[in-house]
Amino acid sequence: MSQAQNITWHQSAVTKEDRRKQNAHQSFVIWLTGLSGSGKSTLANELAKELYQRQVRNYVLDGDNIRHGLNKDLGFSDEDRKENIRRIGEVSKLFVDSGTVVLTAFISPFIEDRESARQILGEGEFHEIYVKCPLEECENRDPKGLYKKARKGEIREFTGIDSPYEEPASPEFVVDTHVSSIEECKAQVIAYLESKQLI
Ligand code: PPS
Repeated sequence: MSQAQNITWHQSAVTKEDRRKQNAHQSFVIWLTGLSGSGKSTLANELAKELYQRQVRNYVLDGDNIRHGLNKDLGFSDEDRKENIRRIGEVSKLFVDSGTVVLTAFISPFIEDRESARQILGEGEFHEIYVKCPLEECENRDPKGLYKKARKGEIREFTGIDSPYEEPASPEFVVDTHVSSIEECKAQVIAYLESKQLI
């Protein structure tokens, strides 16, 4: 529940629409969700480069990085993951308000929390993209050696091992990094954005 009292919302003198007009593109969130090692961060950064080259103002919010600063007080319990995603939803909304395209790369394992982020942003500004990859493949890749530690019990509550990942039921788009290269996935997401006339 909100703790805020005696506060008043101030309307911005420069609106979101003004900023979008100046940027000559829409602003929205590309919400990448998937297991650790599925390729979320790599894909987000490839998309960022492509959008930058196309003069589309964008910014990547990445789980590992945000947990070094804004969310360094949070761990990996269900409750902390919920708060992690709530804050990212709110931060994303500010970026969208500033006219920026946001690329988020968080496991965001719970349907309910992703739906809350969708509510914060609103339909049309939230594009959930499932970065699909089988657990066995993520575990084979194990770029940070975290699955190995989780299997040995050195890390608790690791997604896919002893903490759940709830697959999106109806995401806006799916890329499969087990089947397609990151380059191909990037092209698929760009084609999706073009088909929606978002870029
Ligand atoms: S979440 O579930 O959305 O709150 O997680 P997120 O903020 O995306 O952080 C995931 C990254 O944290 C590292 N890490 C863990 N992931 C999952 N479970 C546990 N217990 C854990 N401990 C540390 C891991 O590097 C994740 O990064 P990615 O990029 O997903 O591999």
